[in-house]
Amino acid sequence: MKERNISVKTNGLTRRFGNFTAVDGVSIEVYEQEIFGFLGANGAGKTTLIRMLCGLLLPTEGEAYVAGYDVYREVEQIKRHIGYMSQRFSLYNDLTPSENIEFYGGIYGLTDEEIKHRKQELLSQVGLEEYADKLTRELPLGFKQRLALGCALLHNPPIVFLDEPTSGVDPEARREFWDLIHRTAAQGKTVFVTTHFMEEAEYCHRVMMMQEGKVIALDTPGRLKERYQKSTMQEVFVALEKTVREQNRKDKAV
Ligand SMILES: Nc1ncnc2c1ncn2[C@@H]1O[C@H](COP(=O)(O)OP(=O)(O)O)[C@@H](O)[C@H]1O
Ligand SMILES: [Mg+2]
Repeated sequence: MKERNISVKTNGLTRRFGNFTAVDGVSIEVYEQEIFGFLGANGAGKTTLIRMLCGLLLPTEGEAYVAGYDVYREVEQIKRHIGYMSQRFSLYNDLTPSENIEFYGGIYGLTDEEIKHRKQELLSQVGLEEYADKLTRELPLGFKQRLALGCALLHNPPIVFLDEPTSGVDPEARREFWDLIHRTAAQGKTVFVTTHFMEEAEYCHRVMMMQEGKVIALDTPGRLKERYQKSTMQEVFVALEKTVREQNRKDKAV
């Protein structure tokens, strides 16, 4: 079997805010071209973990390497190798998709020639050619999210982090977005994606479930369903949360 290259590796990665531990000892290895899902309820620590991996927030403890670069010492290199789509909509509503791409291209340091070339490529990739010159504010949220993904891919990074890209998007647009994620991975990118929609876990190659900052499960959706004898990821998550809650109660009792 072909050996798989590691794209992101963490060891005991932890982030505290005062006495509160938002991310608690996360150790993972994520491979190139993998669609790796972070699942968890609001407050589970998904965004905090992504921000550390993007070099936007320093860890309190532990190690993390992204595209081989250290999150403590090599933030500039990390930024060149990743695309990041934040949880909050990050495009300019008063600009057109075409202008948003030009703006982000400038930020990423692309030349005018490169921007022109990438713009056509990306608009077609995310299916927005016809909307290039409409105002972004007039597009449905699902289209805006595809544009935001396009902007995160402008500088052709090997790894992209998508923080709840389908939040607030209707089911059909969510399916289209997941098709786009699959096409992106097939082009050789590693995709980290967070969601609180449990059924979206089915579309990931592997999923990591988080609760109160801790990893409570990490495997392929198929193996998780088998292990817990469930037919959907929603049911797996409910069973897991219950087990973890009971365990926590027992731990407190001793
Ligand atoms: N800058 C911060 N200061 C204090 N607490 C924070 C900060 N950022 C996040 N938190 C807390 O950390 C926990 C995890 O937050 P977050 O990573 O945003 O979770 P998720 O993305 O899974 O909803 C939450 O309880 C949140 O209130
Ligand atoms: Mg979040």
